[in-house]
Amino acid sequence: MTSPTSVQSASGSRRNMPTTGDTLLEVNNLEKYFPIRGGLLSRVVGNVKAVNDISFKIGRGEVVGLVGESGSGKTTAGRAILRLIEPTGGQVLFNGTDVTKLSKGQMRDYRREMQIIFQDPFASLNPRMTVSDIIGEAMQIHNLHPGKARVDRIAELLQKVGLRPEHMRRYPHEFSGGQRQRIGIARALAVDPAFIVADEPVSALDVSIQAQVVNLLQDLQEELGLTVLFIAHDLAVVEYICDRIIVMYLGRIMEIAPSRELNNNPKHPYTEALLSAAPVPDPTIKRQRIILEGDIPSPINPPSGCVFRTRCRYAIAECANVIPELREVAPNHFKACIRDDIL
Ligand SMILES: Nc1ncnc2c1ncn2[C@@H]1O[C@H](COP(=O)(O)OP(=O)(O)OP(=O)(O)O)[C@@H](O)[C@H]1O
Ligand SMILES: [Mg+2]
Repeated sequence: MTSPTSVQSASGSRRNMPTTGDTLLEVNNLEKYFPIRGGLLSRVVGNVKAVNDISFKIGRGEVVGLVGESGSGKTTAGRAILRLIEPTGGQVLFNGTDVTKLSKGQMRDYRREMQIIFQDPFASLNPRMTVSDIIGEAMQIHNLHPGKARVDRIAELLQKVGLRPEHMRRYPHEFSGGQRQRIGIARALAVDPAFIVADEPVSALDVSIQAQVVNLLQDLQEELGLTVLFIAHDLAVVEYICDRIIVMYLGRIMEIAPSRELNNNPKHPYTEALLSAAPVPDPTIKRQRIILEGDIPSPINPPSGCVFRTRCRYAIAECANVIPELREVAPNHFKACIRDDIL
């Protein structure tokens, strides 16, 4: 059950925002700028606007995809939501509480609820720790399953992710990439989180094992009723696993829609271009390939108005003047583009 709500944006304007019945996560005008220092005195000479005023909601139990080209700000958004990096602006409401305002101590309880699965299963597991230490670490921090119960819980988690209990005494280098990612998933699940950011969880894996890990994630999500923000490049994977998809470009949201709707009926020129580059499983469907001219512009000095306009085949003069609001153009379908006469 969905309906649009009106919220106040940082710039003072009213905007429509996607909502879902029972909201678990609400991101309002989230911003993450990385300062660039220069000169002898290391003064701040500019900012990388990695995430620039993004707002969306995720319903409890919903799986939402976050897609966009490399450098569009997906990882930064995911990490800022979890406060693994500090946002420079905006709100992140988790169950109604703004986690950006919490002290370190208060944040501890929320960390348990909000976990991450990293992209690179080789870099994200400490090579000096056994699997048991890796999975048990967070349980220890949060005082969960003390004593003998912890070993049982670790064994249970390993089985859940398709590994064997005896694997707990081994070190990360004794596993394949796919198995390591299963360990990363077990680690995220160890503290019974409600919400998981999965940052390109399969992109570092061989194509042959990507599907296995995606299927595992999907099974676990259903079994545990997890709410997931699934970051990916690959639209095919995202369409398969996600209820809704958020499309980002140069730190901003371009479009949000239910997965199938986004794939069949993209409303934003950027989404259209992304989809045109993705392989279609049905050979009878022919898509016109749209080549995006030029590189993604610098997030230090993004184009005025619509950030996509410099690569957009529909851009008109006005696109340079107004930052397009994310507005609902069909039920539960939002786009940030001033042109309604296209697509
Ligand atoms: N610590 C940092 N300091 C300065 N700039 C950064 C930092 N981290 C990220 N950036 C910049 O922020 C922008 C967004 O990066 P981010 O890693 O979030 O993109 P992404 O969408 O996850 O890309 P990819 O698909 O390649 O993982 C990029 O221009 C990147 O160079
Ligand atoms: Mg990334």
